[in-house]
Amino acid sequence: MLVVLDQVDSTNTFLKNHFDEFPDGAVVAALEQTAGRGRLGRPWLQQKNNDIALSVVFKKLETGFHAGAIVGLAALEVAREAMPQSELFFKWPNDLYSADKKLAGILSEGIWRQGRLAGVVCGIGINVNSDENALCAIGQPATSFFALCGQKFEIKNLLERLEKSIARHYIKYERERARILHDWRRENRLLGRMIELSFPDGKRLEAQFSGIDDDGNLIALCNGETTVFGCGDVKILPSPAKR
Ligand code: BTN
Repeated sequence: MLVVLDQVDSTNTFLKNHFDEFPDGAVVAALEQTAGRGRLGRPWLQQKNNDIALSVVFKKLETGFHAGAIVGLAALEVAREAMPQSELFFKWPNDLYSADKKLAGILSEGIWRQGRLAGVVCGIGINVNSDENALCAIGQPATSFFALCGQKFEIKNLLERLEKSIARHYIKYERERARILHDWRRENRLLGRMIELSFPDGKRLEAQFSGIDDDGNLIALCNGETTVFGCGDVKILPSPAKR
């Protein structure tokens, strides 16, 4: 089920408020968000009619991390089909990147009922037709389909492809959970790279990315010790030769 709204405050907020009215797997997209939200309380900017903003309601998931993996893999598939020449990968926890620029971000929010996870609303924002001016306004290195391949895309067509791909990946998750996690991990291409981790309390540290565990936590080598991180923001540091 795909519903496309002309305008809404945020597709995540909308689906959280209407959680019971939508069936498992329903997708709500908006051509314009007036109060799009990113991770850690940041605003999410999108160009009206030009970019993708959608949220999915999941009612049969173990964790919010699994929602991010399903939606992320679907977005990666659609982006690769549209731009086969572009090198795309995931940057933990939930960003889709090309080189050192962000193409898409994911925000998963749990719906809790009587201490139990009743579902997850998982939203993704993808920069599609945004031009350099719009990308500069984002305030962090960002890219779009247009910036990567010089071609504009029809948003409604991409939304339909994305909805189908999300449904396929959700079925795959139900049948072969390990496979989805394996695919998602494989696309996190930072193995061995130096990263800077920053935390909500303002703390920062440099570490070497070593992988992702079964629960979606980041594993990094930090001052000679292997450490597991469940939250934080990752900045990819230049390779030693370029530093
Ligand atoms: C991030 O990278 O910080 C996450 C961005 C998530 C943005 C999407 S756009 C659709 C959905 N609605 C929202 O308000 N946020 C998510």
